[in-house]
Amino acid sequence: MKIIAGSSSPTLAKNLSAELGVPIADVTIKRFPDSECYVRINERLDEAIIVQNTYPDSNIIELFLLQDAAVKMGAKKISVVIPYYGYGRQDRVFEEGEAVSSEKMAHLIEQDANKVILINPHKAYITNFFSIDAKICDGMPSLADYFRGKVDAVIAPDKGALEMAKKAAGIIKCDYNHFEKTRISGSEVKMEIKDMDVKGKNLLVLDDIISTGGTMAKAVEILKQQGAGEIYAACIHGLFIKNADERIMHAGCSQIVSTDTIESPYSHASVAKEVAKLLV
Ligand code: R5P
Repeated sequence: MKIIAGSSSPTLAKNLSAELGVPIADVTIKRFPDSECYVRINERLDEAIIVQNTYPDSNIIELFLLQDAAVKMGAKKISVVIPYYGYGRQDRVFEEGEAVSSEKMAHLIEQDANKVILINPHKAYITNFFSIDAKICDGMPSLADYFRGKVDAVIAPDKGALEMAKKAAGIIKCDYNHFEKTRISGSEVKMEIKDMDVKGKNLLVLDDIISTGGTMAKAVEILKQQGAGEIYAACIHGLFIKNADERIMHAGCSQIVSTDTIESPYSHASVAKEVAKLLV
């Protein structure tokens, strides 16, 4: 068995290799001058674990080529670990005529795979789009581990992230709460935390994704205004579109932390241990 490290995820593949004691395969991945992708697996395989994101677009084609090369080099079993399942958000037809990218992506991936592992996908039911063995890995425990002993409470920036905050607080052994949004007018939304005095407390604001950073920056700004101590901003998937990180730091954040599902300078926690549990 060998791990195939796609170019989106060299660190996660390395960490997974260490967790499982499975070596990384010798693979050549290049781009032609017109940016088309070239893939070659330089050794025979019986079983392969491919680690590669479906974000951004260029990584999708690379994943398909890695799967194709693995089949051609003899892999009888292929497990595909997709740290960040890009195109997962459009998971149903909202308006007639729309493509369902989440479903289409699943159908393309499963052509050359026996098993797929998605880390904190947009919705859990996305796994139903696959007809092969499809599992969800929760990267949150790895993130929560990083904050043991560092914070007094975990704050969810909205109700949607409350369950995650509750689970993280259980691991860190601290309090938790969430922001409530009240619409004041057509354009004004009030965000507040009820029943918690944040003054002087060290807080972890935890969300599944940081995209533009708007949600996180707003939450940090309010907590800072209310006199919180150190404020950490953490997410599973750090997309950090444009200057998202600057926006969050400027709002008063002490440190940004994400996992290695999307590798960045903020990837201080690895989901490898959690992924490994689903591969043994
Ligand atoms: C929303 O459903 C997600 O949980 C995140 O809160 C959202 O994707 C964050 O986006 P942004 O960083 O652009 O505010």
